[in-house]
Amino acid sequence: MNKLIKPDFFIAPSILSANFACLGNEIASVIEGGADWIHFDVMDNHYVPNLTFGPMVCQAIKPYASVPIDVHLMVEPVDEMINAFAAAGANIITFHPEASRHIDRSLSLIKAAGCEAGLVLNPATPIHVLAEVIDKLDVVLLMSVNPGFGGQSFISSTLKKISQVRALINEYAKENGRYIRLEVDGGIKIDNIAQVASAGADTFVAGSAIFGHNDYAKQITAMRTQLANIS
Ligand code: DX5
Ligand code: ZN
Repeated sequence: MNKLIKPDFFIAPSILSANFACLGNEIASVIEGGADWIHFDVMDNHYVPNLTFGPMVCQAIKPYASVPIDVHLMVEPVDEMINAFAAAGANIITFHPEASRHIDRSLSLIKAAGCEAGLVLNPATPIHVLAEVIDKLDVVLLMSVNPGFGGQSFISSTLKKISQVRALINEYAKENGRYIRLEVDGGIKIDNIAQVASAGADTFVAGSAIFGHNDYAKQITAMRTQLANIS
């Protein structure tokens, strides 16, 4: 990885695995433990076979979130939810290209609402969709599990895809002087985060690997220790 354009590693705990009965405290604790972003998984029981939370919950947790809220939309259609989440305090909004009829328009809506924008690619989604809209992307989120549930196993073919997107991002940064984050989501644990980073990721979503344990700071610190050796 080119050191000149590699940013700091970010850890984005997914509150999908948090205790929903005390979400505000969960968020405060995980930020205290070292979270860089709060990853907020929105599922609609339509695009994915599960149902989570919407903009009202985002608004409710906003006062506890002293770091950016990274809203991962697993909803179809997408556009109606963009302004709702921007108004509810989202800082980053990502969506799946399969869920939007007009990808460029959805990305423009996110930017117009003042948020950072990203596309999320499922394990079977090819990366060519990024090319035409790369100027509008602040983040690329690669799914390393099929979306819908926490606690699944990392799909190893994602590693190759991470390095392909890393090459694309580095080339884009060299030509345009603008850095796009490369985030990976699903099955990330202390024992595989270094491999994911070596492949080229800079932002790591982890749900069960953090919230499935009592001491969030310990889990996040152990992840950072793994990342410390990646050049
Ligand atoms: C899955 C979600 C993930 C999930 C990750 O659809 O997008 O963010 O919470 O959970 P773990 O880290 O447990 O695989
Ligand atoms: Zn997610």
